[in-house]
Amino acid sequence: MNTREKEAYLREYSILKSQGKPFFPYSIAKDAIMACVVMASIILMSLTLGAELGPKVDPTTTTYTPRPEWYFFFLFEVLRVVKPPSLTPLAAIGVPTICMILLFLLPFYDRSPERRPERRPIAMAAAFFTIAAMAFLTYEGANAGSPNQIDMEAPEAVVAQGAANLRTWESGKQVVAQSGCLACHKIGHNGGTLGPDLTAIGGRLARQAIARTLVNPTAPMPAYTELDEKKRDDLVEFLAQLKGGEH
Ligand code: HEC
Repeated sequence: MNTREKEAYLREYSILKSQGKPFFPYSIAKDAIMACVVMASIILMSLTLGAELGPKVDPTTTTYTPRPEWYFFFLFEVLRVVKPPSLTPLAAIGVPTICMILLFLLPFYDRSPERRPERRPIAMAAAFFTIAAMAFLTYEGANAGSPNQIDMEAPEAVVAQGAANLRTWESGKQVVAQSGCLACHKIGHNGGTLGPDLTAIGGRLARQAIARTLVNPTAPMPAYTELDEKKRDDLVEFLAQLKGGEH
């Protein structure tokens, strides 16, 4: 702001101030009324609609998919795509903190007197980019697959073997996903690290060896003797086809 602009601003300010009303009691009264309206609305809504508690907790479930409230989906998505554990604190705490500090310091680095949006291209671009990024991350976070799911397309070799093989492969994939193998094993991009990565297990173990692991595993892997024959065969077929290279 140059001297001339500053003088014009101060002149305008003193005129407006002489015409205006004092903060106490006018603004305080306005704010107090609005606060009462908001409180009354919340009380009325909680009395008429009640609070949602959701279904009762089930500590035995293995298929529960933890998800944040919708307004945290953007942060959840950032956490989900940032894989290296060393970068997780930066994504979860660092980036939001930096954004808050930038917002807090805004009056210090944006000293332009302009208020029209078309004369503030940088501020408008930053605002547009932030809203677009948060909208995109929220959408992606809301549509993220469950961690009990295997995000993997059938390898070309399986597709080439025809529809019946593809159905077996998809069925086996589902059995693996539902049996909780991902709690310990990584397949593709999802899964834990307690057991070996199974993404390319088909290149390492023969069908019989995979089947044997299920009934006669090394601890801490539990035995899977309860699976019915069809499911077990599909599961073994699915794992046997994982040769790696394709995700
Ligand atoms: C509690 C964790 C856990 C679960 C659940 C689990 N595994 Fe394992 N699995 C392991 C561990 C640990 C090993 C390595 C054992 C060893 O040292 O040989 C292993 C080994 C294997 C192997 C041999 C891997 C290799 O490279 O030799 C296969 C195949 C396998 N698991 C398949 C499965 C399947 C399929 C499921 C689900 C039906 C499953 N596992 C569930 C922990 C688990």
